[in-house]
Amino acid sequence: MKRIGVLLSGRGSNFQAIARNVRNGSLPVEIAIVISNRAEAAGLSIATDLGFPAVCLPSKGLDRETYDRQLLDELSKHNVDLICLAGYMRLLSPAFIRAFPMRILNIHPSLLPSFPGLDAQHQAVEHGVKYSGCTVHIVDEHLDAGPIILQAVVALEGNDSADTLSARILAEEHRIYSEAIRIVASGNYRIDGRRVNPGVS
Ligand code: GRF
Repeated sequence: MKRIGVLLSGRGSNFQAIARNVRNGSLPVEIAIVISNRAEAAGLSIATDLGFPAVCLPSKGLDRETYDRQLLDELSKHNVDLICLAGYMRLLSPAFIRAFPMRILNIHPSLLPSFPGLDAQHQAVEHGVKYSGCTVHIVDEHLDAGPIILQAVVALEGNDSADTLSARILAEEHRIYSEAIRIVASGNYRIDGRRVNPGVS
């Protein structure tokens, strides 16, 4: 069974959804370690309460390369095969990304390549798009830019605020993140250029 490492910085609802699917057997991976760069992240206490191995590695005051070396040490201690970013609010260094080529996943609350970066739901409401959603993608050295594994579409309503839109997108995030991890962990997919094709290997 593939061993996943989860990196988070905050609320941890995506991690919680992944953990639920791991526990109920619908997502056949092992959660090897949960790492938070913030001690106060709710996701860290969720992991501990659920009995998963979890640590805080505080990032404050450390430059990216130094911090990422600590992260890599921790991940290798736990023999991690696949990394899932779940609300991890730091950019990863090129050295870190090279250490896990095509094996780092991220979830972003928009239909990439629209609205990368922070406050994607707010950006979508302000832009007046009719549809937004979420994207699970492979992390490369560019922000929110790597090959797309899965997306889900959410329609905007006339009176949507960033908050109401975020809530509907989040429900889809919780569904597709586990599905994407299942695809990658099974090895049953092929990457052709930017295209990730599930079901062929
Ligand atoms: C989610 O909206 C995710 O798409 C983004 O950060 C948020 C994390 O939420 N990358 P949570 O911590 O998983 O609840």
